[in-house]
Amino acid sequence: SILTQDELKKIAAYKAVEHVESGMILGLGSGSTVKHAVDRIGELLQLGKLHNIIGITTSQNTHQQAVSLGIPLSDLDDHPVLDLAIDGADEVDPHLNLVKGRCGSLLREKMVEGACKKFVVIVDESKLVDYLGGSGLAMPVEVVPFCWKFTAKMLQDLFRNSGCVAKLKCGESGEPFVTDNGNYIVDMYFKKDIGDLRAASEAILRLAGVVEHGMFLDMATTVIVARELGITVKNK
Ligand code: A5P
Repeated sequence: SILTQDELKKIAAYKAVEHVESGMILGLGSGSTVKHAVDRIGELLQLGKLHNIIGITTSQNTHQQAVSLGIPLSDLDDHPVLDLAIDGADEVDPHLNLVKGRCGSLLREKMVEGACKKFVVIVDESKLVDYLGGSGLAMPVEVVPFCWKFTAKMLQDLFRNSGCVAKLKCGESGEPFVTDNGNYIVDMYFKKDIGDLRAASEAILRLAGVVEHGMFLDMATTVIVARELGITVKNK
């Protein structure tokens, strides 16, 4: 292939930044794709091509990046309605439903992106799946640390018909990964399609130990896919 995966991510990110206008309250997502978008927004502010942007970040990492670029920041308490959010995703299905949070940020993303008028998702083509869970990679669930094994077992049992295996997300030295909110992540892996996503979402959220899950259903308004042969834009 001619372009690296990171170059594809950058192409999608720059395309998304074309949606940004001066004066916007802007949700800034997390991960390696949106990092390029945040860099670009910082650059356009620096060049005087954008003015009066207020960023609302979705993770500590993005917060630090935005601060280093001099992007003015606020939060949902002060700005409960956002004009636009830009973020990456781990999986995108044909209905523009997403899996997010593979890097561990999903709760703040869901809060911020749920408060946006427009939510533009940026991915390279490797993120496209036929159904959520279909990549064989993790579907993350943020859980309280208290008796996480119990919660993981409940999650695994919920989806036993789909061959679910639930595992604690761990850091490099094997210690539990701790989210920005002081919680743990249980990663679910499926052998088969989980079927009705709405029902799955509700069943997961009904478990008392669960804080939030990484399925973002019916939230994306636009998905920008960077492919080797050009950009595809899908609108809801
Ligand atoms: C962060 O936890 C995620 O929700 C990211 O948005 C998602 O993992 C995409 O990340 P990349 O852009 O690094 O693939």
